[in-house]
Amino acid sequence: MAPTMGALHAGHVSLTQLARAHAARCVVSIFVNPTQFAPNEDFSKYPRTFEADVEKLAGAGVDLVFAPAPAEMYPQGFCTSVTLEGPAVAGLEDRFRPTHFSGVATVVAKLLAQCGPDVAVFGEKDFQQLAVIRRMARDLDLPTRIVGAPTVREADGLALSSRNVYLSASDRAAAPALYAAMRACAARLATHDFDSVLDEGRKAIAAAGFALDYLELRDADTLGAPDRARPLRLLVAARIGATRLIDNIDASVGVN
Ligand code: PAF
Repeated sequence: MAPTMGALHAGHVSLTQLARAHAARCVVSIFVNPTQFAPNEDFSKYPRTFEADVEKLAGAGVDLVFAPAPAEMYPQGFCTSVTLEGPAVAGLEDRFRPTHFSGVATVVAKLLAQCGPDVAVFGEKDFQQLAVIRRMARDLDLPTRIVGAPTVREADGLALSSRNVYLSASDRAAAPALYAAMRACAARLATHDFDSVLDEGRKAIAAAGFALDYLELRDADTLGAPDRARPLRLLVAARIGATRLIDNIDASVGVN
C-alpha cells in the first residue's frame, strides 16, 4: 500500500509503482490527517484534489483507494496515540513541529491495521517520517514491511511536494537552490570537516533567499550524530516566501 494525504503528483505515482513491484495488488489511502498538523499549520488550506487523485490512481493501475472520513478515523472518545523517541526527537522537523510525528505514527499505525498490507511504501522526501515509521514498525512488531521510495524531482532539482503549489513564481524560480546547495555540500564532505561544510551550506541557502530552519548531517538510520564510516544523510528545511520546503539527499562518504 501507499499511504498519502492526496494532492497527488508524480512522486506519489512512483510510490504506487514501487508498491506494485513488491505486491500483486496496491491500495492507496487518501486521508488528510488532522492530528499531524499543529493549529498554526495549513490543515484547512492543505490542497484537496480528490477527483483528480482518483483518476491518476486509476491510470496508475492502483486496485483500491481507501479514503476514510475523519469520524471513521477519530470517532468520539478517541484517546490513543503512538509516541516515539529516537528518530522522532532527533532535533530536525520535531524542533519546528513538536506534535507532528505522534500524529503521523498514530494515523500510520491505524492505516496499516485497517488495510493489512504486506508492504507499505513511504517517500524518502520525508526522511525523518520514514525513519520514525520504520522504527515504529520494528518496535511494535507490525507485520508490514516498510519500504522507502527515492524522491522524485523536477528537471531543475526541486523535490516534488504537494506544497509546491503554494510557491509564487519568483519563489519557484529560487527554490532549486536548496537542492543545489545540498549537492555542493555533499560533494565536499569527503575532503573537508563536516562543520565547515555545513556552515558554507547554510550561508549559500541564506544567500539564495531562504530563511533556514536547519541544514544538518545525520546518521541515515538513527538520525543521530554522523560518523564518516556509516551511511549519512544531509537534511534541510527552509522557508521561502510563505512556503516551507524540506528535502534531503544521501551524503555518505565512507560507504556506498
Ligand atoms: O507523508 C504523508 O503524506 C503523511 O504524513 C502520511 C504518511 C500519509 C500520514 O498521514
